[in-house]
Amino acid sequence: MSQIISQLNVNSPDFKANYEHNKRLAEELAERQRETAVSRPQRTIDRHLSRGKLLVHDRIEAILDASSPFLELSPLAGWEMYDGEAPAAGIVTGIGRIEGLECMIVANDPTVKGGTYFPETVKKHVRAQTIAEENQLPTIYLVDSGGAFLHLQADVFPDREHFGRIFYNMARMSGKQIPQIAAVLGSCTAGGAYIPAMADETIIVKDNGTIFLAGPPLVKAATGEEVSAEELGGADVHTRLSGVADHFAEDERAALERVRDVVSHLNRRKTMPVVVQQPEDPVYDPQELYGVLPADYRQQYDVREVIARLMDGSRFSEFKARYGTTIVCGFAHILGIPVGIVANNGLLFSESALKATHFIELCGQRGTPLLFLQNITGFMVGKQYETGGIAKDGAKMVTAVSNVNVPRITLFHGVSHGAGNYGMSGRAYDPRFLFTWPNSRISVMSGESAANTLWTVGQSRILDRKDDPTPAEIQQAEAQFKKPILEQYERESSPYYATARLWDDGILDPAQTRMALALAFSVTLNAPFPTDRYGTFRM
Ligand code: COA
Repeated sequence: MSQIISQLNVNSPDFKANYEHNKRLAEELAERQRETAVSRPQRTIDRHLSRGKLLVHDRIEAILDASSPFLELSPLAGWEMYDGEAPAAGIVTGIGRIEGLECMIVANDPTVKGGTYFPETVKKHVRAQTIAEENQLPTIYLVDSGGAFLHLQADVFPDREHFGRIFYNMARMSGKQIPQIAAVLGSCTAGGAYIPAMADETIIVKDNGTIFLAGPPLVKAATGEEVSAEELGGADVHTRLSGVADHFAEDERAALERVRDVVSHLNRRKTMPVVVQQPEDPVYDPQELYGVLPADYRQQYDVREVIARLMDGSRFSEFKARYGTTIVCGFAHILGIPVGIVANNGLLFSESALKATHFIELCGQRGTPLLFLQNITGFMVGKQYETGGIAKDGAKMVTAVSNVNVPRITLFHGVSHGAGNYGMSGRAYDPRFLFTWPNSRISVMSGESAANTLWTVGQSRILDRKDDPTPAEIQQAEAQFKKPILEQYERESSPYYATARLWDDGILDPAQTRMALALAFSVTLNAPFPTDRYGTFRM
């Protein structure tokens, strides 16, 4: 396989300026992630620790194997929402190894409003379950939550993907032999009581752990019965009398140790559906990605420079290199795992869509997982291209992406607009994981295009209100009209706006992306590839 030879001059002023810019974006990301993970009022932390509880990240560390990385998902969910009252949406989810098995961990953070569920908390929990189900990962729930955030009940309770979905997912996953394990480390109230009750195996910790459909105040109000939390649903009651939990733990450390013990008896093994090679570092340092990405996200750049810094040995076997050159396709390895890459290198034309469709089919035939490197403003527009059938060629690509039977992972390394987002395995196309970079932008079109489009369709209505406007007045009206649209698009296309709402599984630091992608691909290899078939390709 041939090695990519970088065309970049790492000593050039452009490279250095880009490097500074993107390094700053990565530092900002790290700082925001750190702050989200740890910044809680000291009073809340002290109260939590005084109860003999560990902080949520320490709980996770305690159940992972010593050598295991943790692929945290959507750590900035809820970012700049709810006046900052829901950092990380009050829940930590991610994948790590326990007793050698890759497991999904879903852990409430009781230092965020008692671990209650905001809309993004529900979304993050359900998303983690979806990933666990698609990739057949044993799922561990570290429960410590007051259930629904009652002020927002309409947004967390009634709908299909709301709170009830959590228990439905547990039942369905258990039915597919995907183990469901719960450790009750704190409160587990009302609907939340169903997490341990639905689990295959449940551990509960003495004193702190409680499970009940209604807490003591509600019981008193409903029936007049006066009962303490411990008597109503403590560890002793549930492991000795009710049978709602299976294992009694003296303290939190013992409960977390018991989780590891339960996993050690799952009797599961990962079977590799692909041929894995010896991993190899890229020839070009991944840190150089900071210098590759233009400081202005609208500027085009050669995506091979990105591939060279992500893949083993910077090697890339390019497919149809001379045809449909605005899309780059080819085979490579990432930490030894074979991948087929589909990467934008300009606007999508009919030829590029056809080439991508062909390549996606090849990967499906060979059982090679796919990586989509998305940086796309859209498909080419205009009479010539419509007449040439660009819509049906784009549709072929969408058909191939939607039906191909191998795992797909998508990374936004630039902009994501329009139908290009669809053909390139955007969120609606169920890639197993979707990550973004801090320089990325996502919106239906660019702010400039939206403002121009809306001005074109709306200007006559606006100008009709003025008597014979001068060119200067027209110009002023246009600028006034466009300003709020441009501001809205600027705000809403930010990767932080996107990740806050779980349109992705997290923003990655470009320099750490190789490891994150390799972990994610490794996770996808836990499930056999499905046997989906393509439908009708419009010819
Ligand atoms: N909805 C909205 N806010 C809630 C809440 C809920 N279900 N449960 C707790 N909170 C808020 C509290 O008002 C408090 O807010 P504040 O920090 O602004 O004062 C914060 O979360 C922490 O609650 P607090 O009671 O001080 O913490 P705790 O650790 O002592 O107890 C719980 C946590 C969850 C055990 C306890 O708050 C509780 O029992 N809540 C009610 C649970 C319930 O009945 N849920 C029904 C869901 S269907």
